[in-house]
Amino acid sequence: MNSIWKKKSQEEIKATVFEALGKNVNYGAQHILGVPASYLDDKVFNQDASFIKDAPFISTLLQNPNHIGCHTIGESESFFTGTQAIEKELIEICAVDILKGEAAQQDGYVAAGGTEANMQAIWVYRNYFIQQHGAKREEICILCSQDSHYSMDKGANVLVLAIEKVEVTDDTREISPETVRSALNRARAQGKKYFIVVCNMMTTMFGSVDDVTVYVDELKASGCEFKIHVDGAYGGFYYPFSNDQRALTFANPDITSFTLDAHKMAQAPYGTGIFLIRKGYIGYANTQQASYVEGEDCTLIGSRSGANAIAVWMILVKNGPYGWQEKIFILQKRTEWMCDQLAQLGIQFYRHPQSNLITIRSHHISEALAQEFWLVPDNHASPKWHKIVIMEHVTIEKLLPLIEALKQ
Ligand SMILES: Cc1ncc(COP(=O)(O)O)c(C=O)c1O
Repeated sequence: MNSIWKKKSQEEIKATVFEALGKNVNYGAQHILGVPASYLDDKVFNQDASFIKDAPFISTLLQNPNHIGCHTIGESESFFTGTQAIEKELIEICAVDILKGEAAQQDGYVAAGGTEANMQAIWVYRNYFIQQHGAKREEICILCSQDSHYSMDKGANVLVLAIEKVEVTDDTREISPETVRSALNRARAQGKKYFIVVCNMMTTMFGSVDDVTVYVDELKASGCEFKIHVDGAYGGFYYPFSNDQRALTFANPDITSFTLDAHKMAQAPYGTGIFLIRKGYIGYANTQQASYVEGEDCTLIGSRSGANAIAVWMILVKNGPYGWQEKIFILQKRTEWMCDQLAQLGIQFYRHPQSNLITIRSHHISEALAQEFWLVPDNHASPKWHKIVIMEHVTIEKLLPLIEALKQ
């Protein structure tokens, strides 16, 4: 498809961002009297440094546009229309080029991170079930796996919802029809009738991926109402490139929304969790009382930095779709290389074949080794697993000393 996502030269990127900044308000040159906002404090952040005119991201940071609200739907604050248009293009690249959605059929925004984007999804569906199905809050339940990120527990707590965890097998980290059915039965016995399913597209600790058809088949068989959100906070900029599947994309009509974090695999600044949802849903999170915000506000966060959206857009267009494919290809090869080394040493580990995460059984890892190589455990009190994440900086040269140490 790749209809919008095009590789751009540094000159083209600069021209696009500076043109967008030119369409935003200019606090220095215009009479902007009515907002509690300005450019960054120029006593602290030098705005005259000679390199700034060549630095589109730093320039955006300094001008400090506020991207409050959601710009793919209705009106938005007219102060920052230039950079909001770039965010809108970024959302379209993620929804259409990466996740195979139809053009202009998804809404979205750059959230604070994966936690906010997951909570935004849960919030939208909670309100949808209440408003469209007359559900009582006590009848709504979040359904996710025991390997899901703790943001689902946070969401359950903040939004006062029940949460039920589906068991996964210890060695394959897979959900199964039986474990989904028994979680559903436990929830239904507690009077739950409406399910907010969060399906993993690479888990935090294992890089494992849930088979979404298992959830769909069991929920359809149960006759319960459900909505599916995919948590691709970790895997969103990886898994769609490590294989050519459609099950975890907008091409699957059973899925309504996604989280993709650019501040993980896309190496973007923190504050770049991307929330994407099919048209027709984000309004369930609209806060009409946000009357001073032009276009109102359908996001959890409120004010947010426009520079974050610019950073992610710059990263994607600088690499281009083929550059991204190559980046993931290299990480896949490196991960395979490391897995071969571990297998030769007889070390037990889990790795999903389309992931760059290797999770080693902790009995192979001494505390000293974990500390020396900054290996992250599943549980600091009593670790069962330690993970290696093959990122851009985790080269074979950096992996070799760990292999040597494991040989000891
Ligand atoms: C799968 C998954 N979901 C959600 C999150 C939460 O993301 P954040 O820390 O950006 O809020 C993480 C973070 O590691 C994650 O791995």
